[in-house]
Amino acid sequence: MKYGIEELSQSIDRSSAIVQEWFHDLEEKLDYHIPIKNGKRLYDDRDLSIAAFIAEKRDERWSLNEIYKRIEEIFPLKKEVPQVEVLNNDSIDSFIGLGPDPESLFYSIAQNNEIISNFKYHSLRVMYMASMLAKRVNCYDEDLRIAALLHDIGKMGLSADILLKPSKLNDLEYTIVQSHSHIGNMIVRKHLGLTRAAKFIRDHHERWDGQGYPRRLIGDEISVQGRIISICDAFDTMTVDQRTYNKKTLSYQEAFEELENFSWKQFDGNLTRIFIDMMKDEKIPEYMMSEQQ
Ligand SMILES: [Fe+2]
Ligand SMILES: [Fe+2]
Repeated sequence: MKYGIEELSQSIDRSSAIVQEWFHDLEEKLDYHIPIKNGKRLYDDRDLSIAAFIAEKRDERWSLNEIYKRIEEIFPLKKEVPQVEVLNNDSIDSFIGLGPDPESLFYSIAQNNEIISNFKYHSLRVMYMASMLAKRVNCYDEDLRIAALLHDIGKMGLSADILLKPSKLNDLEYTIVQSHSHIGNMIVRKHLGLTRAAKFIRDHHERWDGQGYPRRLIGDEISVQGRIISICDAFDTMTVDQRTYNKKTLSYQEAFEELENFSWKQFDGNLTRIFIDMMKDEKIPEYMMSEQQ
């Protein structure tokens, strides 16, 4: 028996948004796969049992993490098979076949995509700073480096009119821009198979106080790599990248003050302090600075 999300959620008396969020988590955390047909996810009886199990344990006040751990133990899992059906977008289709090398993916897209070419040097600088910061806190690895390089890759399908709009975005436009962390996560996970790097990308707009997106994670629920990329991303935007939006840039000193003001609100305060110390003696290599300057 196959169910759509509505039927599935009705049969366990939960809202479809909540049930969708559970299966999204299972996909992320346990690599659980729900097949998609004609753009819709199709759930079967086993998925229904899993959803009923989660609902029951939530009523008993189990945390989601405890529940997912138990699911892994008691339900035989369907592993994801690579598929491109969900990435139903011309520009994404156009790079399928480039091979699984993140670096060549980045440079091909940066060359061919107007949006990403705008962010090419920003991405390189964020990769550079995030790698240095990660080394200082002993969490540097290739996944962190690739995630920092590709953190905004999800912007490739967005319209330049919205993304580079100098005035304030309206609610709808803001929602559209926010989608880039989710799209980046999907591209890197499904196309490159880099599940960890994809998670770091997903986390790069989360905030320490839980007011970020896409999942409103709080504090150390956010991967440390996501927190690192977030600081470097904000710093680069303030000191260099603002000019893409025709906005005035800040000096390093002014940007340090901004980061401090948002410590323990937007940013992990410990990482912010280490980052500021680090940037007092570091210089970003010349070739990573945009030629527009
Ligand atoms: Fe971003
Ligand atoms: Fe960025």
